[in-house]
Amino acid sequence: MPPLNEIVDQLNLLRQQAEKELSFIDTTEKLEAFRIKYFGRASGALTALFKTLSGLSPEDRAVFGKAANLAKEQLHDLLENKTIELKSKTAAVPAAGIVDITLPGRSMPQGHAHPISRVLAEVVSIFTTMGFSIAEGPEIELDYYNFEALNMPEDHPARDMQDTFYLPGGFLLRTQTSPVQIRTMEKSKPPVSIIAPGRVFRRDWDITHTPMFHQVEGLLVDKGVSMTHLKGVLEAFLKAFFGAGTKIRFRPSYFPFTEPSTEVDIGCIFCGGKGCRVCKTSGWLEILGAGMVHPEVFKKVKYDTDVYTGFAFGIGIERLAMLKYNINDLRMFFENDLRFLRQ
Ligand code: PHE
Repeated sequence: MPPLNEIVDQLNLLRQQAEKELSFIDTTEKLEAFRIKYFGRASGALTALFKTLSGLSPEDRAVFGKAANLAKEQLHDLLENKTIELKSKTAAVPAAGIVDITLPGRSMPQGHAHPISRVLAEVVSIFTTMGFSIAEGPEIELDYYNFEALNMPEDHPARDMQDTFYLPGGFLLRTQTSPVQIRTMEKSKPPVSIIAPGRVFRRDWDITHTPMFHQVEGLLVDKGVSMTHLKGVLEAFLKAFFGAGTKIRFRPSYFPFTEPSTEVDIGCIFCGGKGCRVCKTSGWLEILGAGMVHPEVFKKVKYDTDVYTGFAFGIGIERLAMLKYNINDLRMFFENDLRFLRQ
């Protein structure tokens, strides 16, 4: 029987060798061969070493037994770790032929703001930069705010200008953002300077009309406000939006809630004013309606008409977007055709 220190040396050598071998193992097959080589019942190297225990004296057996058990445990742990490591590798890398891991990944399509949202945001930003603040009102509106308070009593012929969706109970879908003027003035004393962006609804459906569209209303009330101020603000806006060289024309018009009233045109950006299909050969494109707030409107909100004057305007957002993005059918904005939205 070899002396104890020789067997212990043997054990340490075996352990070192096993650890080294284990570190090179990269398949489950090789790992299984390793397990049999060291732990196998019949001819495993560790098993064989344990067999020598029986030939030792009781004191030596206790010392060596402890060392041998420790070595066995440590090797066993290493073996377990390797098993887990190899398993996770095979899970992450499927065998060639099942999945082509060299294929490029599928990229997510990148979204962006709808053209209407972009134009709306730009218009709002131009006016807030000038000092206007933002006001809001409901889309389901009372007849009073949409018509009555805007100097359009029940039998007023101007109600026909706007084909209205009526709802039960005296409600309607607002046909314009102008009711926000009334709601704002009811709540606050002058000076007032607001814009009111939002959706409006009319019974219309053709290449330049959709039943829902967007407006930005503007209202400015103070002492000594005149048509000159209206002109200045609108010119500044149109030049900021369409470019400094934009030609602008104020045309007399009619709205029940403004007096005098005007419609504002810009020189046709398609033909440069020469006359084309878009501007119907006139060389001009209508952009917005505006005017000086009618005294009847001020009376409804109890503003003193001897002290205060004001102007209001309403801009069609779809109209601006059509011109900015060169789109000739308004309905395209709302069909959500991705081929259109992606451009
Ligand atoms: N509300 C009007 C329309 O929708 C536009 C407008 C607003 C005109 C404010 C004058 C003043 O046609």
